[in-house]
Amino acid sequence: MLRQAYRSHAGNLQELLTPLELGRLQATHESYLALRTRLPSDQALNTYYANIHRDWEWGNDENERSANLVTDTINASGNHGTILVLGAGAGRLAYDLHTRLNSELTVALDFNPMLLLLAQRLMRGATIKLHEFPIAPVTIEDCARLGTLAAPAPVGDRFECVLGDALRPPFSAGSFNIVITPWLVDILPTDLGRTAAEVNRLLKPDGQWICFGSLSFAHDRKSKCYSLEESLAVIAQSGFKSLDSRQDEIPYMRSPYSRHARQEKVVTITATKNENAARRQRHTALPDWLVTGNDPVPQSQSFQVQALSTRIHAFIMSMIDGKRSLRDMALLMEQQRLMPQEEAQQAIRSFLIKMHEDSQKPAGH
Ligand SMILES: C[S@@+](CC[C@H](N)C(=O)[O-])C[C@H]1O[C@@H](n2cnc3c(N)ncnc32)[C@H](O)[C@@H]1O
Repeated sequence: MLRQAYRSHAGNLQELLTPLELGRLQATHESYLALRTRLPSDQALNTYYANIHRDWEWGNDENERSANLVTDTINASGNHGTILVLGAGAGRLAYDLHTRLNSELTVALDFNPMLLLLAQRLMRGATIKLHEFPIAPVTIEDCARLGTLAAPAPVGDRFECVLGDALRPPFSAGSFNIVITPWLVDILPTDLGRTAAEVNRLLKPDGQWICFGSLSFAHDRKSKCYSLEESLAVIAQSGFKSLDSRQDEIPYMRSPYSRHARQEKVVTITATKNENAARRQRHTALPDWLVTGNDPVPQSQSFQVQALSTRIHAFIMSMIDGKRSLRDMALLMEQQRLMPQEEAQQAIRSFLIKMHEDSQKPAGH
């Protein structure tokens, strides 16, 4: 059952990602494996997959509670002009806010193409079937459940989904009346002060920022893992006034088909743009030689070491011919003056243990 579900899931995801035209890629699977084409290491295509089912299938309870907490902080009768939801994920909160607040324009931005393409289709009124794979299935059928995802109604044309980086959002300064960052600021790799300055830049004068979700920062530098009190201070120093915050306990990611569920004490911070935050250098996720492809690739020491070790890996793999033993390969290594035979045998063994273990792992889905 699971195998069949994985197959069907792969097909469904391929279909969903059709607009990315991945089918046009001509290089072999092995080439891409070698080059390890991937999203930033802390975010994968599937990292927030369960959110899809929470947003569009499990019922209204969780979604409504979040939307209530956010709308409670917004003056419901005011002109809500333009709203930006940064890190909108599968899009339900953005959808709920748009329908409740009837804004002129709501923009949902995320850098995960799977979540955003799905959100876009659902918002336009599509019904999509996708499997859910709960963390702790309640019954055997729950191991892989084909769910039906749909929005209560299409959103209309004043709602846009934008594929982009929240750290370099593709909008002019002063574009939005309200910016919402749901469950985002603590998972970004940047300092909260930089995120706050970017939100400040996006807001019109007197615009409102609503920072909702968790504050469980995971920076390597502990001094950047802010408490609520410190977060408020950082935001206040980034051109915001009238700061307010509340904390509420809500159910979180409670799949009806899983024994696993969370309860979270979420924080809702509201702040009004007071003045322009001090200008900061734009966030650079990667150096220009990587982004534009025009500058020479620097011959750093670490690259030189990696290049040499890759050549050794390739040499070891090329010695595998179905006949040679570890001992034969170690002898060849010595003949090539790469390592003394004894040392080589141990090193090749460690390397091939890793390769063997990798070959035993399932391909994933
Ligand atoms: C914890 S999830 C929250 C999703 C959604 N806001 C919700 O409440 O369900 C974080 C979201 O932020 C997105 N994200 C993370 N880093 C981002 C970045 N630099 N730019 C845009 N989106 C980002 C992820 O793809 C994911 O959808």
